[in-house]
Amino acid sequence: MSPEILILHGPNLNLLGQREPEVYGSLTLDDINERIQDHARERSVQVRIQQSNHEGVLIDALHIARNWAAGVIFNPGAYTHTSIALRDAISAIDLPVVEVHLSNIYAREPFRQHSLTAPACLGQISGFGWRSYTLGLDALLGYLGLLD
Ligand code: DQA
Repeated sequence: MSPEILILHGPNLNLLGQREPEVYGSLTLDDINERIQDHARERSVQVRIQQSNHEGVLIDALHIARNWAAGVIFNPGAYTHTSIALRDAISAIDLPVVEVHLSNIYAREPFRQHSLTAPACLGQISGFGWRSYTLGLDALLGYLGLLD
């Protein structure tokens, strides 16, 4: 069976395409998910994709991933900058997690330039639009020894 990866999208990412397109691009979340699925298929891995606007639901998704996923690609949205609970969940699950951001959070407002969650992650990719997800997936697969 091919390995499975959780792709987890946080708050407000369901509005991609309509939400500040000058910052986040014009693709919808469905468009991005399709590109992630295509990329995963080319690498013979399976992805399960989930989005939530709720911190507790994201925490539950990380906990449940312990039982089935080989790793996680996570865009925590604004919770990146506020959530000790999500950082603790990432630390607790003992799975490699790659944090991704569409925008370059270090080139934006000061409150976005600090990530509470990234120190608990394997690494972070920020600023490449939808490609942050596929770059993150390759980074994770490389770490797991699943890239040719
Ligand atoms: C984001 C960056 C966050 O600062 C912001 O709150 C988001 C999206 C990104 O993907 O660039 O919701 O995570």
